[in-house]
Amino acid sequence: MAPLVKKPFEERNLHFDRLIGNRKLKWLGQNTNHIPCHPAVREAMLRCIADEEFHIYAPPCGIEELRELILEDLGLPGDEFAVLVTDGAIEALYHATRTWLGQGDEFIVTDPGWLWPHAFAKAAGARVTTLPIYDPACQYRLAPEALAAAASAETKAIYLVDPNNPLGSCQTADEIEAIAGIARKAGALLIHDCTYRHFAANHTLAARFYPEGTITTYSFSKWLGIAGLRCGAVIANRDLIEQLAAAPPNNLGSSILAQRAAIAGLRHKAEWLPQVLSIAGANQRRIAAAVEGIDGLTLPVYPSNGNFMTIDVTGAGISPDALAAAYLEHDIMIRQASYHSRVFADRFIKVGTTVPAEWVEDFCVLLPALVAQVAGTRAAAAGVY
Ligand SMILES: Cc1ncc(COP(=O)(O)O)c(C=O)c1O
Repeated sequence: MAPLVKKPFEERNLHFDRLIGNRKLKWLGQNTNHIPCHPAVREAMLRCIADEEFHIYAPPCGIEELRELILEDLGLPGDEFAVLVTDGAIEALYHATRTWLGQGDEFIVTDPGWLWPHAFAKAAGARVTTLPIYDPACQYRLAPEALAAAASAETKAIYLVDPNNPLGSCQTADEIEAIAGIARKAGALLIHDCTYRHFAANHTLAARFYPEGTITTYSFSKWLGIAGLRCGAVIANRDLIEQLAAAPPNNLGSSILAQRAAIAGLRHKAEWLPQVLSIAGANQRRIAAAVEGIDGLTLPVYPSNGNFMTIDVTGAGISPDALAAAYLEHDIMIRQASYHSRVFADRFIKVGTTVPAEWVEDFCVLLPALVAQVAGTRAAAAGVY
């Protein structure tokens, strides 16, 4: 029998399986949060396990206490908005795109952005229109004028990652108001991906301006640091949530362990988040200092409003993929631009900041030598994981 050729999904899975098997790996590539969790969060999870609460299913839309706490965290009123707890924000994005997008519908997104919802939209038959934002002229944000020029009656949904992953840029309140107005005028849903909201200096919810048509997605992976537990939510007006609740991918309730952790996290957020932001801020400053000393590297957005920073490598004439591969040889995972964009795939790398200072130190110390090591690789082929 001929040897089995691995399919791309198998290659990708093996790649990540190898990463989780490497106990020495420094995770600077997935915007995950590696700061030891609040004792109350650990306690809530241990109690859930000790009580063997996991024998039961959680309620289909989430534990009521958690649903209320999420609305409270966002400052949205419960008489107008409702929450559906999901297996991470990604399930919320999947569910929204697959519920409302169909054959030929237009889905407007930014480039760079987070590509998985584009794949979901395409799988539903939708057409993806990308608006480039990797440009200092628009301050690496979606300019309302650009959206207004693109949006039409054919636009079914607009996907706005804000703060933007990978750029760390954050839309202003005026821009959000304008974007919400454009979505309303086009009769389009506005999917406001707020995964990194808690790291932003100032963040404005589009739902305030366009309550009847905004789908807000929320994650506990980044600010609370429970990515592996899978907990997030979708928040929208009660009629829209009723539509989503009719046929959700997981009607048997999200992980009860994750929801117990999320409840404790929100109850202790006021003590916990400032520490996280302070560590991330110090790490950002350290990375900025390292970048400053290297010819050809720049920071498009600084400070970043996410728990990561994008470093432009265009001037150094190197391939982001080659630099990421070189870091992996040193047990450091960073992200290459091809994960976020095809057009801008040769422009940048991205590095996480909610990690121990020693990890960032190791990244910074290696940076000059590894940039020199991969010199001349700019045209190298991209491998997207
Ligand atoms: C922009 C964006 N949205 C959603 C997600 C998924 O978040 P979750 O872990 O809650 O599924 C990510 C994860 O990296 C992300 O970057």
